[in-house]
This record gives sequence, structure tokens and C-alpha cells, in this order.
Amino acid sequence: MVNSYKAAADIEILTSNFPIPGYGLVPVNAFVIKGSEPVLVDTGAVVTSKEFMPALRSVIDPADLKWLWLTHTDYDHMGCLHQLLAENPRLRVITTFLGMGIMSLMDPLPMDRVYLVNPGEKITVGSRTLTAVRPPVFDNPSTTGFFDDKTGVLFSSDCFGAALQSVPENAADLSDSDLRDGQVFWASVDSPWLHKVDKSAFAAELDVIRKMAPNMVLSSHLPPAPGQMMERLLGSLSVAPGAQPFVGPNQAALEQMLRAMTAAPK
Ligand SMILES: [Fe+2]
Ligand SMILES: [Fe+2]
Repeated sequence: MVNSYKAAADIEILTSNFPIPGYGLVPVNAFVIKGSEPVLVDTGAVVTSKEFMPALRSVIDPADLKWLWLTHTDYDHMGCLHQLLAENPRLRVITTFLGMGIMSLMDPLPMDRVYLVNPGEKITVGSRTLTAVRPPVFDNPSTTGFFDDKTGVLFSSDCFGAALQSVPENAADLSDSDLRDGQVFWASVDSPWLHKVDKSAFAAELDVIRKMAPNMVLSSHLPPAPGQMMERLLGSLSVAPGAQPFVGPNQAALEQMLRAMTAAPK
């Protein structure tokens, strides 16, 4: 199920929850930025592609979209990419050279349908300028978030995501421990390289985001987070490199789970 609600002025969120058995729910978010040149940020998960389109249509006519900012080429971000390109012949996909290259291994993006940006570069879409940002935590080399100068909103892609027991509409409603534990778990699962980083170099990366002082952080995997939460969000990530690395269930644990699921009720 894909729900929508207003995340900020002129910005709607399209969200569903992906369960990780035994660990919680991970929100999967896409966003619509309204304006004279509307932007869709990511296109939901492949597994929810049938539910995503009606939710999108409830927010905007897909034919009115001018841009699709693909933060990266993972299955939870590309669900309706090709359907949208087929439905709307003027839609351009903002991505990177690597994003275009990865797509060419599966379902190539036509060259005249892409617009390439690198971190630090800007693109003007109607009355707003979007600056491409490489977030400090990411799981795919094509990852590019961005900062919207009009609203002061940072779109952070997978960075700042969290696994949660329940998903509120505003991240400010999460307790300190739920937010921190959820963020640290997600960062450890999604970006296991974090455990190998130089902590001072990583702190400098977090400082770049701190200095942006966004009014709001819109992560692909966290409810909308007001800018006042920035120190909580950065604090969780700063401890993630020293956290216990995630090790998934092995075959013996999987078989035990399967036995428990198929055991006859007493
Ligand atoms: Fe990802
Ligand atoms: Fe993701």
C-alpha cells in the first residue's frame, strides 16, 4: 500500500513500509515537488509499482511531470521509472553517468531522456535551483541527493534511513532511542563499509551536511524530519561506524524460522 501526504510546502510524499522480518519496518519514500516544472524524486519500489501509480495520480497528473530525479538505481527507487517514461514523452531523468551506465545493463535509458548532474552541480527547475549532493552515507555509486534552495529541503536519498517498529508521519515523533537504534541498524545493513571508515574523515562529511542547515530532511527511508532534528540525525550516524556490524541469519537460522512457521498449531 502506498500512501501520500504533504511533507512541506509544495512537496508531497508517497510512502510505503517494507517489512524486514524480525527487525521492523523501513519506509520507502518518493516525493513530488510541485511548481512550474514539477519534479518526481524516485519512483517507489518495484514490488509496489502497481500501487504507486494510483497514489502518484492522486497527487499529480504524471503527464504534468517535467523531471524525474533518480537518486540511484536500486529496486526500491525505480519501481515505475519505465512506465513513467512511456506515459510522459517529455519527462527527463536526472541522474549521473554511472546511473545511466547501470541502467544500460538492464533497461537502457534513451540518451535524449537523461540529464546528467554530478555532486556540486546545479540545475534550475522553474523557480527553484537544485544543487546535487553526495550524501555522507549511500549504498550505490550513482547516488545523488540534492538541496532545494527555494524550500531549504535536503533530499538525502538512503542517508538518514531507519528501521522502525511503527512509522509516524513526522520523524520528530520518534523517541531518541527508536530513532538512534533505527538509524544505526539501517546504516549498518545498507552501508556496511561504514564500519571501515576513518572516524574523523566521516565526521568531516557529516559537517558538510550540518553546515547546509536544511529546514527539513527528506530521506528515502525515514519520515520527513524537520531541520531542528539535524543534531539527532547526525548524532546517530556519528556512532554508526563503531556499532556492531550486521550479520544476517544463516542457513541454520533460516531453517529454524521455516520450521517455526510451518509447525502445526497446538
Ligand atoms: Fe539504496
Ligand atoms: Fe533505498
